Amino acid sequence: MSLPHLKIYNDYNTMSAAAAELILDVVRLKPEAVLCFATGNTPVGTYRELAAKARESGTDFSRCFCIGLDEWLGVPGNKSGSCKYILQEQVFDPLGIKPTQVHLFDGLTNAVEAECEKMNALIDSRGGIDCMLVGIGTNGHIGFNEPGVDSRLKAHEQVLHASTLDSGKHYFNEPTPIKKGITLGLAQVLQAKMVLLLANGVSKSAIIRKTLEGEISPAVPASFIQQHTNAYVLLDKEAAAELTL
Ligand code: PGA
Repeated sequence: MSLPHLKIYNDYNTMSAAAAELILDVVRLKPEAVLCFATGNTPVGTYRELAAKARESGTDFSRCFCIGLDEWLGVPGNKSGSCKYILQEQVFDPLGIKPTQVHLFDGLTNAVEAECEKMNALIDSRGGIDCMLVGIGTNGHIGFNEPGVDSRLKAHEQVLHASTLDSGKHYFNEPTPIKKGITLGLAQVLQAKMVLLLANGVSKSAIIRKTLEGEISPAVPASFIQQHTNAYVLLDKEAAAELTL
């Protein structure tokens, strides 16, 4: 199934600049937009471009509201490597987004269900997510929606797969025990008014093919993006290399 908005760029920087422009357009059209940001290596360039372009163009982020896609359970938000720490450093500080404009999962919660309900209620009370930026794991996860996940779920706790733990440890600058995550669910990805899925590099080419050209299945959580009517899939040439479309 072909997606409405599949974009293939020559390189990572061009892809990142295009993603940043799409986010800026959302905020220009709707300054009070609800934005959801992923962490990881993939969006680093987008966030860099977003900060630079927002500054150059004077785009106002003072009325938007930001939520996090996921968080490692058991990891405090002030630890480098936590999603909170990364978003603060790469997105909120550069854009001048204040703590009152942000709601993230608390990785130290001992009441995961209540934490999830709080997030679900907040998204609903703000009228849903206007723009969600996600990466993709080599196993097809989006956020921490690992293979086998129920696509009807909203925020939930997830036991993480070995490949996720393996790539996750590179985000931390010291050994950090991680086993589980808390994440928005695929239902919320599908309900977001606009989703940007980004992937770059050869390591993502096989899963990108399965995601876009394979059957829609919990075995490849990202494949549900085929059902989204306003999803943008932004790839560099390497990540797109196995597509036959
Ligand atoms: P990456 O991670 O951006 O560091 O490749 C993506 C993901 O696992 O969702």
